[in-house]
Amino acid sequence: MYTKESWTCIFLIICSMQSVCNCCDWIRHHYGHLSAEYLSLLDQMGGDITEQEAPVFFPELLYRRIDDAKFEDQVRFRNETIYQITKLFDGNMKAVIWDKKKLDDFLNILERQFENLKSCVSPAEKPERRLKRYFKKLNRKNYSAQAWELIRKETKHHLQRLDIFKAKMH
Ligand SMILES: *[C@@H]1O[C@H](CO)[C@@H](O)[C@H](O)[C@H]1NC(C)=O
Ligand SMILES: *[C@@H]1O[C@H](CO)[C@@H](O)[C@H](O)[C@H]1NC(C)=O
Repeated sequence: MYTKESWTCIFLIICSMQSVCNCCDWIRHHYGHLSAEYLSLLDQMGGDITEQEAPVFFPELLYRRIDDAKFEDQVRFRNETIYQITKLFDGNMKAVIWDKKKLDDFLNILERQFENLKSCVSPAEKPERRLKRYFKKLNRKNYSAQAWELIRKETKHHLQRLDIFKAKMH
């Protein structure tokens, strides 16, 4: 009786470990090409990237810290960044003339990436406040074409920056 329960317990633990690891495997295998894909969609969906400066400094220091962090922390950082980016693209887009299909594909791939990152590791105990604060400031936009172009520019910067520590996630 006791042994049977133990085995059931071990079996359940192995199952739950596997469901966690599958998402991480998925990231290891698909992150690279999805990242290339959404970066090219972001470029193709509109004209040249604006040269106007964003209203808030890029959080380069946070990235430098995460460059040397362990896998789990990199996943959490990536998860939060991608989640915040999907939130940036929410709202009135009447002012932009981006290619609708490419924009939708871009957002769908980001969403897919987020769904896998979200459940790959356990969430952080302490939320990364500075990253959230940065995105909150960036998100105070007026929905003009210019404001959307700035969002697109900053998004590209983030996705390229996230791509740099991709190598470590393999
Ligand atoms: C991913 O981000 C979402 C939204 O902030 C959060 O609910 C979830 O716990 C995060 N997951 C990880 C692994 O950090
Ligand atoms: C809207 O935001 C953009 C980008 O920050 C800025 O260049 C523009 O002057 C703003 N327009 C108005 C009407 O506030």
